[in-house]
Amino acid sequence: MSLKVTVNNKEILAKPGETVLELLRRNGIYVPHVCYNEGLIPLESCDTCVISVNGRLARACSTLVQENMSISTNNERAVKTRRQAISRILTYHKLYCTICENNNGDCQLHEAVIKEKVFHQKYKEKPYSLDDSGPFYVYDPAQCILCGRCVEACQDFAVNEVIWIDWNLNPPRVVWDQGNNIGNSSCVNCGTCVTVCPVNALMEKGMLGEAGLFTWINPDLKRKAIEAVGKAEDNFSLLMAISELESKARQNQIKRTKTVCTYCGVGCSFEVWTKGRKILKVEPKPESPANGILTCVKGKFGWDFVNSPDRITKPLIREGDHFREASWKEAIHLIANKMKEIKDRYGPDSLGFIASDKMSNEEAYLLQKLARAVIGTNNVDNSSRYCQSPATVGLWRTVGIGGDSGTIKDIEMADLILIVGHNTTESHPVVGSKVKRAQKIRGAKIAVIDVRKHEIADRADLFIRPKPGTDSAILAGVVKYIIDNDWVDREFLKRVNNYDEFKDSIKGFTLDYVESVTGVPREQIVKLAEMIHGARNVVALWGMGVTQHLGGADTSTIISDLLLVTGNYGRAGTGAFPMRGHNNVQGVSDFGCLPNYMVGYQKMEESVMSKFEDAWRTTLNRKPGLQIPQMIEGVLDGKIHMLYIVGEDTVMVDCGTPLTRKALENVDFLVVQDMFMTETAKLADVILPVAASLEKDGTFVNTERRIQRFYKAMEPLGEAKPDWEIIQALANALGANWNYRHPSEIMEEISRLTPVFAGVVYSRLEGFNSLVWPVNEDGSDTPLLYVNSFATEDGKATLYPLEWKPRTLKDEVHSIIVNTGRVLEHFHGGTMTGRVEGLRRKFPETFVEISKEMAQKYSIMNGDLISVKSKFGGEIRARALISERVMGDEIFIPLFSSEPSKGINNLTGQEFDRASGTPGYKDTPVVIEKITSGSGTPLPKDNWRFHVQERRKQVGIEVSKKWMREEFKPLIE
Ligand code: SF4
Ligand code: SF4
Ligand code: SF4
Ligand code: FES
Repeated sequence: MSLKVTVNNKEILAKPGETVLELLRRNGIYVPHVCYNEGLIPLESCDTCVISVNGRLARACSTLVQENMSISTNNERAVKTRRQAISRILTYHKLYCTICENNNGDCQLHEAVIKEKVFHQKYKEKPYSLDDSGPFYVYDPAQCILCGRCVEACQDFAVNEVIWIDWNLNPPRVVWDQGNNIGNSSCVNCGTCVTVCPVNALMEKGMLGEAGLFTWINPDLKRKAIEAVGKAEDNFSLLMAISELESKARQNQIKRTKTVCTYCGVGCSFEVWTKGRKILKVEPKPESPANGILTCVKGKFGWDFVNSPDRITKPLIREGDHFREASWKEAIHLIANKMKEIKDRYGPDSLGFIASDKMSNEEAYLLQKLARAVIGTNNVDNSSRYCQSPATVGLWRTVGIGGDSGTIKDIEMADLILIVGHNTTESHPVVGSKVKRAQKIRGAKIAVIDVRKHEIADRADLFIRPKPGTDSAILAGVVKYIIDNDWVDREFLKRVNNYDEFKDSIKGFTLDYVESVTGVPREQIVKLAEMIHGARNVVALWGMGVTQHLGGADTSTIISDLLLVTGNYGRAGTGAFPMRGHNNVQGVSDFGCLPNYMVGYQKMEESVMSKFEDAWRTTLNRKPGLQIPQMIEGVLDGKIHMLYIVGEDTVMVDCGTPLTRKALENVDFLVVQDMFMTETAKLADVILPVAASLEKDGTFVNTERRIQRFYKAMEPLGEAKPDWEIIQALANALGANWNYRHPSEIMEEISRLTPVFAGVVYSRLEGFNSLVWPVNEDGSDTPLLYVNSFATEDGKATLYPLEWKPRTLKDEVHSIIVNTGRVLEHFHGGTMTGRVEGLRRKFPETFVEISKEMAQKYSIMNGDLISVKSKFGGEIRARALISERVMGDEIFIPLFSSEPSKGINNLTGQEFDRASGTPGYKDTPVVIEKITSGSGTPLPKDNWRFHVQERRKQVGIEVSKKWMREEFKPLIE
């Protein structure tokens, strides 16, 4: 129901719950709002938005509209107050807009000055200098207007709790930790503070000297120009007019393109600002559906790789032990001939296709179409096999759809967030921030089960630290305790099959038994059961700490069983959230790169296959294809003769690098599509250079099942091409007659053939619009699954019985288990982030993280060179980092490998989870030995991890302290 209000004597309809500022903005009525950012809460720290409401002055940003409200923006007292507020701000901020990098048409102070005609400035010099000690952004206290947006962003939204304003200083300023400089602070460089700063006090380094026609002038000249502007303080309307013109001119120079992050599965979207090939900055928007104003350091600052001199820019063909450059025509012709030859000689199933989890959906669809329709094999898989498949299996077994059951909003709304085997703040940092905010601001509880004490474990209300690989037993113990106490949701169980059989399967998981096999005190198991019972809405998040263990599918299943027994599906704030790793790991599976499913998880049954045969005008192979590890095995067994690998460094990411390397060295023909000369590309017969995501159009699916559009910001480097164009050229060289001119045409074909994508068309995905699949033909989508029924034949979920026995691969010699995982600064092995200078500065090398106990036992000091030898034969040598994050006889080695010999898969073996075919990466027994003494830590001392204890946590910006200062007295009562 709308509310009737008057604005400047004109009747307007308002929405209940909106603020006066929102109403005014919606109706195109301007009032300044310098401290307000749509992605934050109203801070009420500037008084520039003062208006008159029913005859009294009020702040538009925080006043809620009410029926019959009379609002005036041009009331004389209100206008005067606003001008006074702006003048006050100008004592803190020198206007030199023409040479300011922030004057791009959206500087809110610039707009306020011009629109409110405040053309006098009395700027007071400040005794602080610019801080440019960090790798990615600068803080200029001289320009800081003390609005507090950055503090609110860091404290309560990103919840990194690094910055605050010291209102006792003269003048006050933003402070990092206890007064550290940026480069030596606990700042994780998420950039959220920089994104929300309304002026040029916090700026991305990429913008400096680049954004603007005159901003490039040398620092000396710039300083003089700024001083000269300062002298013109009495009337600078002319200067402002010039700067307005200059700002408009910039808009032709700088291109803003909506894109989606290329790193993790959160799927943050933002605008990327480019000038030619230069990437000036990344700007997330309040309307970015998954992230709002949040990013992490990789999405905000990790784009140097796009212009890396290491990019491959021409097709390369092997000649003996080196590569020579070739034309596209020659390379495609050679590949097509080899494919024909191998297919004719050994049959279509002698070829295998490995998809990249960074390809677009349309590209994934074309790759599997090439395999199935052109070659005639279902040997097509993607690297979700390395991480996500167990979660998918667990969800298929129980609820029917192998994806998150809700959206990130559900995580934000939950009362209890259960996190199993997931380093949330480093692997999916933006979700990590949302979890931390739910706890800090809303009082949600966090329970963590993990072998490693990472940040979210440290913040948890309950932290359970089991023996590696025993999560299933803990969860079974918790479910049994819930059942024994009759805390199950009986009403919900009417929607669930198989309760008795399931209950029977876990009857052995008594508290005694669970305690004995997991090492977790029974009190903690009881406590977790009580927390779940006491919470109205529970979500469960899990990651590679679950899925990369033997039995990962079973653990994923029992997590889902737990949610079913307690009725935590199908309502807002509940559900299962296996956190997808790569930015499009979900999409590449959804769009058909799986050996046993057609696009959209359509079963390879007769009706489906004949539908595709009609559409593709071909006959399809009915035999399910091979998973990636089976393809590698197939090469070694002489059954696979050609591998076509798109964007995966299979040598480094598949388990057992030595064996994978041997297979790829021996395969008859290897084609690699990649941006870089990876370890896998080095073994190829032909390398095809591909475009980065910023160089092409397409869509990705994030962990929420959200389909988002990304747009081309620049042309591909050199002769690189988008994957879809390459695949099409190859298909056509093999006799297909494909004529896709744009990814949107590929999507049209997909939506015709795939019920869950029936309504997915580009026109519905413009800009920041998105669709969460399943999407009906009319465009309605499904952010929350299982509201009325589960995705099973009878609409009921299934409680899947658990079979679990303690299992270890350790032996007397190899008695240490090596754990691995992502780190904040690098994505996966670091092919892209390793080429970002600032990230390398903060995190230059792979290390072996060991516990204090182990350090003592082996007389190891920080920085000593350690040899880690695996039971499966490989070895890594890296420097030691002693930390409390690991415990006892467990070590941790990051997935990031600063050099190939330090890659974790030098250690892993060929042990697989039965149900999903995923390698048990985290079940690798090793022995360690100190090689030489070193000094210092392998991480530089200015890394945030060494400064976390120096943080100053607070809620909000402490605005009351601002108003207590004489110079800031509030301008309204
Ligand atoms: S962590 Fe650093 S970059 Fe992120 S909001 Fe806080 S101060 Fe800014
Ligand atoms: S640095 Fe922070 S307090 Fe200063 S102007 Fe920017 S957002 Fe406001
Ligand atoms: S890496 Fe993940 S959390 Fe970070 S910006 Fe990209 S999508 Fe967001
Ligand atoms: S925008 Fe309302 S007080 Fe600053």
